[in-house]
Amino acid sequence: MATSITASSAAPNVFASTPQFTRPTFLMCPPEWYNVDYVLNPWMAGNVHRSSRDLAFAQWKGMHNVLRSVADVRLLHPEPGCPDMVFVAHSALIHNGVAALSSFNPQQRRAETAYLRRWLISQGFILWETPRETPFEGEGDVAFNDDGTSLWAAHGVRTCRAAHRHIADAWHVPVTSLHLSDPRFYHLDTCFTPLASPTGEATGYILYYPQAFDAASNAAIERAYPANRRIAVSELDATHMACCALNLGRTVFTGEITRELATRLFDAGFDVVQLELSEFIKGGGGAKSLALRLSDLPITHSRLGLLPIS
Ligand code: ARG
Repeated sequence: MATSITASSAAPNVFASTPQFTRPTFLMCPPEWYNVDYVLNPWMAGNVHRSSRDLAFAQWKGMHNVLRSVADVRLLHPEPGCPDMVFVAHSALIHNGVAALSSFNPQQRRAETAYLRRWLISQGFILWETPRETPFEGEGDVAFNDDGTSLWAAHGVRTCRAAHRHIADAWHVPVTSLHLSDPRFYHLDTCFTPLASPTGEATGYILYYPQAFDAASNAAIERAYPANRRIAVSELDATHMACCALNLGRTVFTGEITRELATRLFDAGFDVVQLELSEFIKGGGGAKSLALRLSDLPITHSRLGLLPIS
């Protein structure tokens, strides 16, 4: 059974009963009820009821098939009334068997947390609840660095800055707060994703869109990552959700990106898998938002033998 813990009692690594994973493991939620039903972000504006569920299902299945070939993928049952539940990565942030549960800012997404909570309990995760008054949107706004020793957390749109310390306390790790300054990049995962070093070196890479952050945030990013480890994307790639990338070992799963960015990633040693995700971009999401990581970091650096599928 999962246990709820409070901020002062966290000692996550000592809970032997939490799930143990032998392979990278993710949770996905089929887009059975997916639709752009309301507007929560600028990407959804103009797309209300303009997404195709059939195409969304085909695109989701495409990602599910590729991810399943290199990782365990568990499924969360989709629920009516939760059209954004397919973006399951926003419902929690997980590490070492501890799940920090989201407290969604938009009322339209709040019901999703209860469904994920129930599933996590059934799997034996320890729950770290977040207060309603300080919204926090899971992997949408908070990311571990590639080896799981520190956090980057965004505020300015959805997640509240006051939530950052509380989330970091779940694992006793340092957290760096970043301020989002462009409404198109309303979640951290739309413009910033830490990548593991494909060659196993200590320092990983950062895939990001610098213009989405204020000057102080850019300075913090530059202190953490030397220039040759910063992969700054163009506005064109950023607006195709290139930064909303799922990194597994040396492989980067993302949407359709420019040849220039693909070459930059390739030159750094990454294999790039480009996925067609147009229906989810209409809702404001990309590859990373469709899969919630359940297993721990770092993810082993192996060549996955995948070829781009588009
Ligand atoms: N419609 C969802 C929302 O606004 C989409 C989230 C998808 N995105 C992402 N951060 N990559 O909450």
